[in-house]
Amino acid sequence: MEKMLTGIRSTGTPHLGNILGVIIPSVFRANKSTKYSSFIFIADLHSMVQIENIRTIKNNTYQIAAAWLAFGLNIDNCLFFRQSDVSSVTELAWYFNCFYPYQRLSLAHAFKKEIKNKGKISVGLFTYPILMAADILLYNAKIIPVGKDQLQHIEIARCIANYFNKKIDKKLFVLPNAILQKNTFILGTDGKKMSKSQKNCIDIFSSDEVLKKQIMSIRTDSKSVEEKKNPETDYIMYLYSLIAPLDKIEIMKKRYIRGGYGYYEAKIALYEYIIHKFSSERKKFFSFMKKKPLLDHILALGAKRAKRIANERLNCIRKHLRYNSINF
Ligand code: TRP
Repeated sequence: MEKMLTGIRSTGTPHLGNILGVIIPSVFRANKSTKYSSFIFIADLHSMVQIENIRTIKNNTYQIAAAWLAFGLNIDNCLFFRQSDVSSVTELAWYFNCFYPYQRLSLAHAFKKEIKNKGKISVGLFTYPILMAADILLYNAKIIPVGKDQLQHIEIARCIANYFNKKIDKKLFVLPNAILQKNTFILGTDGKKMSKSQKNCIDIFSSDEVLKKQIMSIRTDSKSVEEKKNPETDYIMYLYSLIAPLDKIEIMKKRYIRGGYGYYEAKIALYEYIIHKFSSERKKFFSFMKKKPLLDHILALGAKRAKRIANERLNCIRKHLRYNSINF
């Protein structure tokens, strides 16, 4: 059976971009498909390279877990766990660290971008792709749904798998394939890619007031209520089109073209539709967030199952490394 695996960093409550791009399609795959066995984990170790405060990561982990569960992830059908609960992954990452060429890793574009922006970066950030390769190869996952920004990381994982397979045993690692998620490039309230760091997110799991404020901050041109508007270039219309049904989108489009319909009214329509569309998920999310022991229990159960597979795999890899004569 082919395995699907995806990780999501615990950098905060998932916003609309994460939900449409990652959570909804992955929940669909994990719940409906009989073809894959699915591994969905919260990449809290990866988050440590970005967020220094461990308590924040812990709380973010609960939020991520609550979001996946609120969108209906069936935990009987998949392995849902916290990365740091399965420590074998860091041991495997170490083996990979010990042979992967430093020079090649320093060419990774995420690293180059960070070093250009920040100057000072951690070793953890440098070896980020190696830990990610270990996440994937530890479980022999073949199908990896990711955004475009992660494609190079999957290439690195494939390269590591190939290398070890050639040196040790051609069946040791399954070569992972990236599946490019279509909707990962969702624009935010300012028309740039929706991202926490840009502060342009629509946070469907925030309070009504915060959500409304975010929607009210969507950038528009300065056309008056009476003027005709272009539905093709407006960000309110863009966001509405991502979630509303076709007939509602058509009605709003006509209002834009006809004129006499203000951006304020459009924003209210978007706000109300979001509240309506995600009302059940919001309710479940807030309820899960009040039951942290339950979230701990669910993640511990997932970790227990994941650990069993991970330990078995790691033992097999260890044996090869200890008892074979291998020159890296
Ligand atoms: N780096 C991924 C991201 O930022 C998260 C991640 C960590 C991941 N390990 C993974 C994704 C393994 C897929 C497979 O989005």
